[in-house]
Amino acid sequence: MATLAPASLEFTRLPHPAPLALDARTAALADPGFGKLFSDHMVTIEWTEGRGWHDAVVGPLAPLPLHPAAAVLHYAQEIFEGLKAYRLADGTMALFRPEANAARFNSSAKRLAMPELPEDLFVEACRQIVAVDGDWFPDIEGGSLYLRPFMIATEAFLGVRPAKSYKFIVIASPAGNYFKSGAPAVSIWVSQYTRAAPGGTGAAKCGGNYAASLVPQAEAMAKGHDQVVFLDAAEHRWIEELGGMNLYFVFDDGTLLTPALTGTILPGITRDSLLTLAREEGLTVREDRYSIDQWRADAASGRLLETFACGTAAVVTPVGKVTDPVEGPFTIGSGGPGQLTQKLRQKLVSIQRGEAEDRHGWVM
Ligand code: COI
Repeated sequence: MATLAPASLEFTRLPHPAPLALDARTAALADPGFGKLFSDHMVTIEWTEGRGWHDAVVGPLAPLPLHPAAAVLHYAQEIFEGLKAYRLADGTMALFRPEANAARFNSSAKRLAMPELPEDLFVEACRQIVAVDGDWFPDIEGGSLYLRPFMIATEAFLGVRPAKSYKFIVIASPAGNYFKSGAPAVSIWVSQYTRAAPGGTGAAKCGGNYAASLVPQAEAMAKGHDQVVFLDAAEHRWIEELGGMNLYFVFDDGTLLTPALTGTILPGITRDSLLTLAREEGLTVREDRYSIDQWRADAASGRLLETFACGTAAVVTPVGKVTDPVEGPFTIGSGGPGQLTQKLRQKLVSIQRGEAEDRHGWVM
C-alpha cells in the first residue's frame, strides 16, 4: 500500500449548511446507477496567472458561478480524470493508483495549454473528498465512490489563446456498475466516424473528445449496440478504442494483444494495470496494431477466443458481438464472457478492494 506525501497547499474546510439526511442518502445508495448521484461536498483549487495554485477549499457541492465568456464555454479548454475509491474490509477507504491519474491529468493539461497541478495536490484533493464524503460509498455489488477531478478555463475572454485563470474541482459520485443491464457481454458497432487523428488530442482526457463521440455512440445505440469502436483516422483499418474504454484481444495460443499507444488512444490506467497483471499470470502481452479485418477473420477461425473492454468506469467488460456496417456482424467466442476476461477482472477487482496482495503499491 502506498502512502501519501504532504500536499503543497493547506485546504480550508467550509461547513455544509444542510448535508443530505442519512435516510435519504441510504435510500439513494441502494441503487446509485452511474454518474447521476453526487456526494455533499466538492474540492476546489484556483489557478491564476502570476500567482499559480491557491485557495484550496473543501466545501459544499454547489453550482459554479461562471462568467458567460469563460473560455471553457467557448473553446472547450477542459480536462478530466476518473478514479474510484473503495471501502476496505477494515473500514478504511482506498484509492486505486491516484498518482497515475495525476500524471495523466498533467499530460492532458500540457496538450490543452493548461497549467499542470502538482501531483501531490491532485492526490490530496482526492483524499480530501474521500475523507469528507467516504460515507457516500455504496456498499453494493460493483459499488464504488467514483471521483471526477477536472479543470476548466474560467477567464472571461473571447480571444483564442490559453486562459489566464482556471479552476480545478473534484466531485464524488456513488456508482454501481457502468453497464446497467449487468449484461454478460456488450455488443459493439464499428464507427464510420473518427475519434482522433495523428497530432490531435486523442491521448488527452479532454471533454472535446467525448463530445465528438456522442453522435457515433448514439448511432451505435440506435443500431441496437452498447458501444462504438473507433478505427484509425488515416486508413480506417486499425482498431483504436471505444471512446471511453480500451480494448484487449485474447488468442488461443495464450497471448493477449492491446492496441499500441500511438498518440491517438487514451493511455488507460486499467489498460496499464492489466498489462502488468496479465504478464504476472505468465501471459505474453503485445501492444501492437490490430485491424478490423483481422479481428473478423480471427473470430471466424476461432483463433481469437475473447475480447474485452477496460476502463475505470467499466472495469473489465466482455465484448460478445461486433457489427461492421459494411461487412456485417460477427461473434467472439461463445458471445459471452470468456475465462481469461473473468480471471483478469477478478484479479484486478480483488486488488482494488484490498482482498488480494497489492504487490505494486497501487492501493493508497
Ligand atoms: C472512466 O472510465 O473513468 C471514463 O472516463 C470513461 C467514461 C465514464 C467517460
